[in-house]
Amino acid sequence: MPLTPLATRATGVHRVIMASGNLFPKESALNVAEYPLSSDNRSRSASAGGSYQEMANPKNSALNLFIVDDDDVLRETLTKRFSRQGMNVTSAASAAEALEKAESSRFDVALLDLHLPDSTGIELLGKLKEKQPDLEALMLTGHGSMETAIQALKLGAYDYLTKPFHIPELEIHIQKAYEKVKLARRERQWVEQIRFESPRYRLIGQSGAMQKVVGLIEKVAPTEATVLIRGASGTGKELVARALHGNSPRHERPLVTINCAALQETLLESELFGHEKGSFTGAHQTKAGLIEVAEGGTLFIDEIAEMPGGMQAKLLRVLENGHYRRVGSTQERHADVRIIAATNKNLEEEQKANRFREDLFYRLNVVTIRLPLLKERREDISELVQHFLSTRQIGPKPFTIQPDAMDALCRYDWPGNIRELANVLERAQILAENSTITLDDLPENLVESAPLAGAGSSHIAADSRLLRDVERRHVHEILRQEKGNKVHAAKILGISRRALYRLIHKYGLKAEE
Ligand SMILES: Nc1ncnc2c1ncn2[C@@H]1O[C@H](COP(=O)(O)OP(=O)(O)OP(=O)(O)O)[C@@H](O)[C@H]1O
Ligand SMILES: [Mg+2]
Repeated sequence: MPLTPLATRATGVHRVIMASGNLFPKESALNVAEYPLSSDNRSRSASAGGSYQEMANPKNSALNLFIVDDDDVLRETLTKRFSRQGMNVTSAASAAEALEKAESSRFDVALLDLHLPDSTGIELLGKLKEKQPDLEALMLTGHGSMETAIQALKLGAYDYLTKPFHIPELEIHIQKAYEKVKLARRERQWVEQIRFESPRYRLIGQSGAMQKVVGLIEKVAPTEATVLIRGASGTGKELVARALHGNSPRHERPLVTINCAALQETLLESELFGHEKGSFTGAHQTKAGLIEVAEGGTLFIDEIAEMPGGMQAKLLRVLENGHYRRVGSTQERHADVRIIAATNKNLEEEQKANRFREDLFYRLNVVTIRLPLLKERREDISELVQHFLSTRQIGPKPFTIQPDAMDALCRYDWPGNIRELANVLERAQILAENSTITLDDLPENLVESAPLAGAGSSHIAADSRLLRDVERRHVHEILRQEKGNKVHAAKILGISRRALYRLIHKYGLKAEE
């Protein structure tokens, strides 16, 4: 239905958007560029004659705006206007077009007309939110659509604007919605950031080997390079992945980890790439993959040697051109993620045995960070001990360690590397009396294999009942802490899952512990 603009060029004030249908009278549509559009008063009056300069607002530089409206003139005007202001604008004239575009681009704020030719704005809102949950939507509604607008708010729209409205007013709404998007993203990053900034997650080590690693991280972190982190179990591969992400320009976007050893092939594929509703039994909902969750950030693929062959080919495509498909979909998607991979296996051998694709190996092996074994950098042990005692303190008082106990720790070979050291210190803090770790508080095998420091081992052997109790209490505590998750608990305890089950059985611990 044709409507009269509230203000027209004749008033020299500002462009007005009208409700539904023809938003602009014909002649104004032809002279869109002549209409003053700025929100700023000075430029408004200056623009009465039709010439004004619009400045790109630096606040808009990263704002991805999505305009969905079937009114061509409105769409074009808004696109021109907001592009000039520095926003990245994408537009669509129908819900179908909008959903298609939402597959390949990520948006921050969407302007959705409530009446689209092929759908209602509300329906579109639901579908868009499903695809891009952190997007905020502003509904554009005509008079009389108030109830629908309110319904839209209930369904998660940020706000609505009743047509006709002024573009400057719209701009303020867009900015506010964008602030909310940024805030929500920052909040989501908060836990991750805290973890990063926490001393608990600092990379410790002054040894030459560790300084080399730190130097490499500093060099490659700011780039987009794919990085392969290699090192034995417990040497700090995940920590290095965090450091790479945390020092990259992507650090405000998510770091998402996928562990190839934890999932079988079909699950791994749907976890990573997502799936369409009904693509396999149990796929009740369309689900975005972790690659989408990591959009704009970093995807950390842990234990990559365990990735099945079919998936390796699909990952290679992502590395080459960013392309992938959800399970059950033929639609090509594009991922904007930086990939970091880690393995404790010898990939050259895996490749020779035809378990790992040669092309993927070469593609991954461009920048490699090799982590030394702990026994190759013994000079870092005492600093690591102090680091763990201060950042993973058990109880109200910080623990100290007697020199002969420290000596034993520095002599031991650490097959489980830093993870084993962290676990030994956790156990020692539970055992130790008076907040002092002595030789007696270290595992027998550790003390025995450190010959010069073996004097105290007989004390532990003499009181096996106490040790049993300590072991039971410790396993119980870790299980409780991990809310019964046995995979995590076994990892923390530095033992296999089977060994953990044996301990649960031995000590009669409840399964849910
Ligand atoms: N350089 C370091 N400084 C301080 N703590 C470290 C360092 N390297 C590793 N750690 C700690 O040691 C533990 C094991 O590290 P991480 O999980 O990164 O090892 P990983 O190589 O991924 O092991 P896995 O192969 O078993 O998965 C973690 O608790 C980590 O915080
Ligand atoms: Mg790991």
